[in-house]
Amino acid sequence: MLSVANSEYWEQRYQEGTARWDLGKASPPLVSLLNSSDVTLKTGRVAVLGCGRGYDAMLFSDYGFNAIGFDFAPLAIAEATTLAQVNQNSAQFLQRDIFNLANEFPSYFDYVIEHTCFCAIDPEKRPDYVKLVRQILQPEGELIGIFFTHPRSGGPPFGITTEAIKQYFEADFEILSLVPVTNSVPERQGEEYLGHFRVR
Ligand SMILES: C[S@@+](CC[C@H](N)C(=O)[O-])C[C@H]1O[C@@H](n2cnc3c(N)ncnc32)[C@H](O)[C@@H]1O
Repeated sequence: MLSVANSEYWEQRYQEGTARWDLGKASPPLVSLLNSSDVTLKTGRVAVLGCGRGYDAMLFSDYGFNAIGFDFAPLAIAEATTLAQVNQNSAQFLQRDIFNLANEFPSYFDYVIEHTCFCAIDPEKRPDYVKLVRQILQPEGELIGIFFTHPRSGGPPFGITTEAIKQYFEADFEILSLVPVTNSVPERQGEEYLGHFRVR
């Protein structure tokens, strides 16, 4: 059986049409964040990790950010690229393993956007994920993440507690906020937290 660390595992789901995580639109809490008067994000370079078909990267591009979506599944990147072209959206999409980004994009991004990528990786790789986000962000760069806090065992999606999120990130990031999401899609109601962290 293929492991979640293997791009083929994900590629097969896109090929078979069983990418059930795909909302067909950007994550509602990210849309709310960009429309919120409480938080002001200055535009800049955005990386969307495990971007799938690219809706979140296209959202940030629509709001004036210079967005690049990364995914290692070829079909996800091909479909995201086509969607951006059809919608005349300037987000870029690159087929990459996120764990190889630090060499190519050291201290490059103002923001990293996380939505259903952290829950898709093997939990053993979570420390590597934190390190990679830290490495591709500029000094004082920010991670904006929708974390899947469901309590069920196994995965993907691999759930996590808010306490564990803090434990993973707080050595490298100042936790600006970590709050429950109130406008999740119905199947994720009560199981998402929005995190806003800044590089220490
Ligand atoms: C659950 S899906 C979510 C996709 C997208 N964020 C969305 O919400 O539609 C997880 C995505 O992460 C990608 N992924 C998982 N591990 C990855 C890695 N090491 N490098 C790049 N992409 C990865 C998969 O190919 C898949 O598209």
